[in-house]
Amino acid sequence: MRHNIILLALSLSLPIFAQHEASVTLRPADAKEKINKEIYGQFAEHLGSCIYGGLWVGPQSPIPNTQGYRNDVLQALRDIHVPVMRWPGGCFADEYHWMDGIGPLEQRPRMVNNNWGGTVEDNSFGTHEFLNLCELIGCEPYVSMNVGSGSVEEAAKWVEYMTAKDGPMAKLRKQNGRQEPWHVKYIGVGNESWGCGGNMRPEYYSDLYRRYQTYCREYDGNHLYKVASGASDYDYTWTETLMRQVGTQMKGLSLHYYTCYTWSGSKGKATQFDADQYYWTIAKCGVGVEEVLQKHIAIMDQYDARRNIDLLLDEWGTWWDEEPGSIRGHLYQQNTMRDAIVAAFSLNTFHQYTQRLKMCNIAQVANVLQSMVLTRGDQMVLTPTYYVFKMYVPNMEAINIPLSVQCETFEAENEQRNSSRRVSNYISASASRMADGTVNINLANADLRNTRRVTINLSGITGKVQNAQILTSADIKDYNDFARAEAVRPASFKNATINRQGQLVVEMPTKSIVCLQIK
Ligand code: AHR
Repeated sequence: MRHNIILLALSLSLPIFAQHEASVTLRPADAKEKINKEIYGQFAEHLGSCIYGGLWVGPQSPIPNTQGYRNDVLQALRDIHVPVMRWPGGCFADEYHWMDGIGPLEQRPRMVNNNWGGTVEDNSFGTHEFLNLCELIGCEPYVSMNVGSGSVEEAAKWVEYMTAKDGPMAKLRKQNGRQEPWHVKYIGVGNESWGCGGNMRPEYYSDLYRRYQTYCREYDGNHLYKVASGASDYDYTWTETLMRQVGTQMKGLSLHYYTCYTWSGSKGKATQFDADQYYWTIAKCGVGVEEVLQKHIAIMDQYDARRNIDLLLDEWGTWWDEEPGSIRGHLYQQNTMRDAIVAAFSLNTFHQYTQRLKMCNIAQVANVLQSMVLTRGDQMVLTPTYYVFKMYVPNMEAINIPLSVQCETFEAENEQRNSSRRVSNYISASASRMADGTVNINLANADLRNTRRVTINLSGITGKVQNAQILTSADIKDYNDFARAEAVRPASFKNATINRQGQLVVEMPTKSIVCLQIK
């Protein structure tokens, strides 16, 4: 098949490595930044079968559920300790009118989901259903307000409805069955306001943000963390303008960064790709996202040296063509071992920037883009990406240990993207120290052809290797589907030892992810 883009990946084998080796040096003395658990955040939009069928089947469903939420998905999300969930969009948020989603079901009006396939939304999943889900999972809600087609009054009343103990909105909430206010910390003021959220200029949005945030009040001790709608990818002007014109009226500034080959035409197939496309994807998600983070952070540093404003990557992940046979506009895609490597490279990168980067929300939690779970009827499949999130759980709230990696590199180029050639290590790594002193080591070998011995200079950290797990598969295109739900799944890993010099030596298979602990 001929691809409509030209990709080039070139292995730059360095002669000093006769065998395929890599070395990692930890700097525990420099460890000071906490990896906020919110780096492992999720995103749930009214899009395709993310909410309906993915999270919510309703209490009358024959699919086993708790108050309407699928039991299998609830358990899966608890197992990865989801820290925060963003809702209701995405582009959907700027057409959503929250009052349509409260009160008796039969009285809730319907609406057309214009962004996502024109599907009719019946509003049966609304504010109560979302906030109760967060309570069941034990995660923070992150609610995106409608700025594009809503009003300041609507946003202000929504905050009051969710968080006030008394007053007219609290009375309405109580009539609808919820006595106590919910705890709601994160509110987003619009989404992609430069695009589907209203096609605004940053100057105009900045003023609008200031207006909206003024009337989103704090009730009865509920503290709000207000997030401004941020840039996408390389739009540094948007970030610069908001930093200048909004400043500390925002606590967080968002950023979106997706990976697909091109936005015009085919984005690439989720399960069919060649080595060039694969390496381009990995470079985009490792060194590519790193460069983008660095540049946005540098702008933020100019205006906010004390780091009062956080950067939130509140949408990220791979975006491939929709699966053949799925409903158009529902963004249902499969998830292969390649997506798992993407997740590991991305998370390892995010760990290095947590002095400014405080939240990341992978898109999306169920059945949409790079999801955690896929569902069909009463069946559920955990994706390779899900397993990476599971293996990385111990890193949540641990202190990042800075490190450096020395290893062979590959070079990748996509001539149709605004992205010059990228040179990336085959090995990606991160490390962190937990409160009890346990050290987590996370490694990924992107190489499709070569195994690699990784020698890690622990710089004085001692202990035994424990809980070592590996995620790999025979073919990088392997994925979990309803007929083969466990084609890709973690296994315990034995090839990690501490040598006489006190170095950790890990024999990494091709296309593999290894997480272990030293304690
Ligand atoms: O995640 C899918 C869409 O991607 C979101 O709705 C939007 O914010 C972004 O463009």
